[in-house]
Amino acid sequence: PGDLDPGLGHGYVGELAATLITQDVLQAKIVALAEAVAANHTGDTPPLLVCVLKGAVMFVTDFARALPIPSEMEFMAVSSYGSSTSSSGVVRILKDLDRDISGRRVIIVEDIIDSGLTLSWLHKNLQTRGPASIEIVALLRKPEAVKVEVDVAYVGFDIPTDFVVGYGLDFNERYRDLPFVGLLGEHMYA
Ligand code: XMP
Ligand code: MG
Repeated sequence: PGDLDPGLGHGYVGELAATLITQDVLQAKIVALAEAVAANHTGDTPPLLVCVLKGAVMFVTDFARALPIPSEMEFMAVSSYGSSTSSSGVVRILKDLDRDISGRRVIIVEDIIDSGLTLSWLHKNLQTRGPASIEIVALLRKPEAVKVEVDVAYVGFDIPTDFVVGYGLDFNERYRDLPFVGLLGEHMYA
């Protein structure tokens, strides 16, 4: 679909520069990630998927449906102080988990690792609550932007540092509804 406007059909005509990851490629990767996570899962208790709102919401729902083992789902919302396109590492909890995670095998489900600051903070925070283990699965990672190393067991795609939207990812709350990941046209944030 090279020269078709990627926003066509979703009401974002003229706003996206390109499709970065198509819906088919995304979905195939999520199945592969889910199979890998399930293959490494031990014990009888289902893993507790901790979805980091709002960006990871599309990912967690597809991921849970692709997992060939039962899982449970929790949601957490954090906000990192900083500009709208970069984070500072100072994190505030907007919505906490609804239950105790002590003794549970936790899987943090993240949309994207940019500097890694948000995830690093979250990992430490959840660690203090006494889970049996914490693993991280991230759909996207920007290797060139990483400021703090986080041990991420599963990564879907390594991508360039360009700002991406779609499949849960937003720019000013828009584009989360797209079923693929796209590059925002530069004229949209200039
Ligand atoms: P850090 O830098 O702490 O940031 O790893 C991770 C959070 O920043 C947001 N983020 C993005 N959101 N397109 C987006 O829509 C992007 O290209 C992008 N890069 C970072 C996102 O909320 C993520 O959880
Ligand atoms: Mg955002």
